[in-house]
Amino acid sequence: MKLYEDLANHVTALIRDGTLRAGERVPSVRQIVRERRVSPATAMRAYELLESRGLIETRPRSGYYVSEPGERAPAPRRARASARTTRVEVSELVFQILDAARDRDVVPLGSAFPSPMLFPWPKLARYLGSGARHMDPWSTVESLPPGSSDLRRQIARRYLKFGTNVSADEIVITNGALEELNLALQVLTRPGDAVAVEAPAFYACLQAIEALGLKAVEIPTDPREGVDLAALARAIDKHAVRACWLMTSFQNPLGATMPEAKKRELMALLDEHDVPLIEDDVYAELYFGDERPRPAKAFDTKGRVLHCSSFSKCLAPGYRLGWVAAGQFASAVQRRKITSSLATSIPVQDGIALLLRQDGYDGHLAKLRRTLAAQQGSLLAALKKHFPVGYRVTQPEGGYFVWVELPRGVDALEVHRQALEQGISVAPGPMFSPRREFRNCLRLNYGHPWTADFERAIAKLATFLSPR
Ligand SMILES: Cc1ncc(COP(=O)(O)O)c(C=O)c1O
Repeated sequence: MKLYEDLANHVTALIRDGTLRAGERVPSVRQIVRERRVSPATAMRAYELLESRGLIETRPRSGYYVSEPGERAPAPRRARASARTTRVEVSELVFQILDAARDRDVVPLGSAFPSPMLFPWPKLARYLGSGARHMDPWSTVESLPPGSSDLRRQIARRYLKFGTNVSADEIVITNGALEELNLALQVLTRPGDAVAVEAPAFYACLQAIEALGLKAVEIPTDPREGVDLAALARAIDKHAVRACWLMTSFQNPLGATMPEAKKRELMALLDEHDVPLIEDDVYAELYFGDERPRPAKAFDTKGRVLHCSSFSKCLAPGYRLGWVAAGQFASAVQRRKITSSLATSIPVQDGIALLLRQDGYDGHLAKLRRTLAAQQGSLLAALKKHFPVGYRVTQPEGGYFVWVELPRGVDALEVHRQALEQGISVAPGPMFSPRREFRNCLRLNYGHPWTADFERAIAKLATFLSPR
């Protein structure tokens, strides 16, 4: 990373954590030169970058100030989806977007993945090699599900760090989060059962529901604060909901995070009705604030939450290593795992356990979070610069997606089609809805280093946004 980018990211972090507030003066170029020991040219370039991200603005003869949030596009409105059950059929769209993600020449605004260039490959290779070299041959048998005891202990210790009590005994190691989410659903439901999901929801959740012959009950979800608990309570009464599959932090696709009080309320509601929660929390480590948001699992006293996560988004994409802290369902999930894929690669488990034990990964995470926060700023600034007025956008406190609501009449499927022809992928709203709603919405990915290609792609997208 260049020096001026590093400096710009430092100031971005100060703005994000509230050290510098909207309307406040940013340290002068002279001050920055003195304090950070950089050249005036570096300081100026950093401030220009922050300005282009829309985070600061110049005032004539007065210096630089933190931009007022009011100058940003407003947040999208809550979906009006009614909570009724729907047989799910997720379309070809998901596979089209996945295909586009494989092509390096496509600008990946629709991709579900962060840039692979943001991960510590040499370090991962070192630990993987070391794990394999020191592997006890007996571990191929001893580490059958629930998985490596060392890795499960390391994961349980990380939970403790953010104030959540999870025992290593309730953790089952899996091939990525998607496997444990599917296992959890299989353990909790029978075909025909109703499962409460967010509207809009992560499409793989809808695909899993489809594959198991379940029905989705879509619960309206606020783009900032997550699922509507009153609507969830009504749905539980009306549809005999067997399980909830929810993302309580940095929800995909909205980026919503439930405030902690709401997570407690959610647990009280589920306790009252004896409904288990599959909590998909794969983005939680990618927070931009001071602390990792605690999951609903932190307020689970009955072992009702199956807390699902993985290293795919934050440390080791492609290693396919995930886990579920499954509470009272741990042994059922473990057995289901054995019958579906037998085990999870032992050298990979050993390598990651070693990395967590010896090298931590907090340094890498801190850098990744700063990078993602800065890239979000660049995307929002590009939208502000190029998109016609009238769009709304979320500004999540973590993860790497924003949700854009376009004026009514703009057809996101048509935007997706036109964009793909120009080598740009976007994720259109109907991908996230069993009833193909959110026709005027897009999910955009900012998990890639911001380059001129992205800037041009946003400018190009803006030309496809006229209402039909
Ligand atoms: C919300 C959500 N859950 C789960 C997953 C799957 O995670 P993994 O790659 O660890 O299987 C993804 C990946 O895109 C995701 O976005």
